[in-house]
Amino acid sequence: MISIHEFKTAKEAGVSAAALVADVVRHTPDAVLGLATGSSPLDMYAELIRLYREGSLSFAGVRTVNLDEYVGLAPTHDQSYAYFMHHNLFDHIDVHPENTNLPSGLAADPAAECARYDAVVSSFGRLDLQVLGIGNNGHIGFNEPSDSFSKGTGLVHLTASTIDANARFFASRAEVPTAALTMGIGQILSAERILLLAFGEKKAAILKEALYGPVTPQVPASILQFARQVDVFADEAAMQVIHG
Ligand code: GLP
Repeated sequence: MISIHEFKTAKEAGVSAAALVADVVRHTPDAVLGLATGSSPLDMYAELIRLYREGSLSFAGVRTVNLDEYVGLAPTHDQSYAYFMHHNLFDHIDVHPENTNLPSGLAADPAAECARYDAVVSSFGRLDLQVLGIGNNGHIGFNEPSDSFSKGTGLVHLTASTIDANARFFASRAEVPTAALTMGIGQILSAERILLLAFGEKKAAILKEALYGPVTPQVPASILQFARQVDVFADEAAMQVIHG
């Protein structure tokens, strides 16, 4: 089931999205949260930090699993997703560092690292809430358009369109990693609830395709039509194609 929540701005959507995450954590203090990077969750993370600081929310029992990481970037690299998570959330709340999980971009044996990460994800036995952004080409996590839906964590080669989109965060396009480790579509879909964040006109066409088009691995986010419960938090700009 898909519920769409439309907001004037991404900021307002982020505040409401944080309220949804906070509800899950208050209801289930040892919740397993699947977390995402990119610009889409930034306002939500800022609001979660505010709620923690005002004393109305604790992450002390929460476990987190992040969707993905670039191959080749150390956690100290300022564009690694490990760095992103520490900088934008973990370092500012009371989550225990040992309860936070990301795939390692530096693993010498990516297949072994994917197996390790699958074991971490399945050891929790549940995924209470999965936060997602959506790539311009419909990717979720780093699951790029493909001929099939992936099940577990895998090594993916990034498409030219994703490398172009992410080049803005690096000094040059040549510095953007060309591969990543990502949780699979099967793992994402196992979540009790999914929170999809989509902001800006660049997401408008793909958001409509994902939510109303055919379910196909060429648009990985389209599989969300088969998820248990998806809450889409979008701003007006991202909703403009849906509204027609
Ligand atoms: C990145 C990430 C995704 C993210 C997407 C959209 O490549 N791997 O997890 O959802 O692109 O990014 P943004 O939120 O900056 O638009």
